[in-house]
Amino acid sequence: VRELNLIGIGAGDPEDLTMKAVKALNRSDVLFFPSKKADGGALLRARYEICRRFVEREDQRIVEIDDPERGASGYDHLGTVERWYDLRLAAWEEAVGTHLGDEEVGAFLVWGDPTLYDGTLRVLEAVRARGTLDFEMEVLPGISAVQALAASHKVTLNQIGGSLLITTGRELKQGWPVGVSDVVVMLDPHCSFNELDEQVSTMIYWGAFLGMPEQILVSGLIAECGEGIERARARARERHGWIFDTYLLRRVRHR
Ligand SMILES: C[S@@+](CC[C@H](N)C(=O)[O-])C[C@H]1O[C@@H](n2cnc3c(N)ncnc32)[C@H](O)[C@@H]1O
Repeated sequence: VRELNLIGIGAGDPEDLTMKAVKALNRSDVLFFPSKKADGGALLRARYEICRRFVEREDQRIVEIDDPERGASGYDHLGTVERWYDLRLAAWEEAVGTHLGDEEVGAFLVWGDPTLYDGTLRVLEAVRARGTLDFEMEVLPGISAVQALAASHKVTLNQIGGSLLITTGRELKQGWPVGVSDVVVMLDPHCSFNELDEQVSTMIYWGAFLGMPEQILVSGLIAECGEGIERARARARERHGWIFDTYLLRRVRHR
């Protein structure tokens, strides 16, 4: 039976790959690289670089899968994402069915950790549920952008005994989440932190291109550096043609 591994490859620094990931890479007969247009090919190039550094065998095949365009979400965000999943499902089912032999090992190289804001696991589960392709699946954890962010800033993610919420810019736009003092925000092209209340008592630890040569880190009270981050983000995006950024927000406790 076919074997498919979802290998977490870390969020930008190839050196963050785990030993398990490197072993799984080298056991793979076929690597599947879904490619999106939004990042100008940067994430695809990162995957090729990982192979160049860590794959020792020469008979491995790489199959690029053109990821369908997602289109703008508007008010029907979940509906848009679901239609996009259906298109991906069909493209991936075809790619695996065509390129991975019955007894072969294949892998998807998943950015960061496969279990955090990534559709690969969900799409492959859906492919399996259709019953047309039989395969066994393993998930190998990777260093996520969340861990890379905290380590780069040398801060803990939670305060003593406190909770941490991981959410998206879209959710943060609804306002500060109830009952938490620490929030990590991913997928926020609109710098939603600048719309929050209490900017004088909220710290932001912001990181763009974490683990990559282009990395930028800024931290401080939102009131003092929020606007500067927004400008730095726009400049970096302009210069590189794309950007990935994440941040931790922390309500400052007054004693
Ligand atoms: C689709 S999610 C993938 C998350 C990934 N599975 C993980 O574990 O980090 C993409 C978002 O992750 C964050 N991200 C991923 N890599 C990053 C990096 N190197 N630097 C900053 N943020 C990053 C950004 O918020 C980006 O919008």
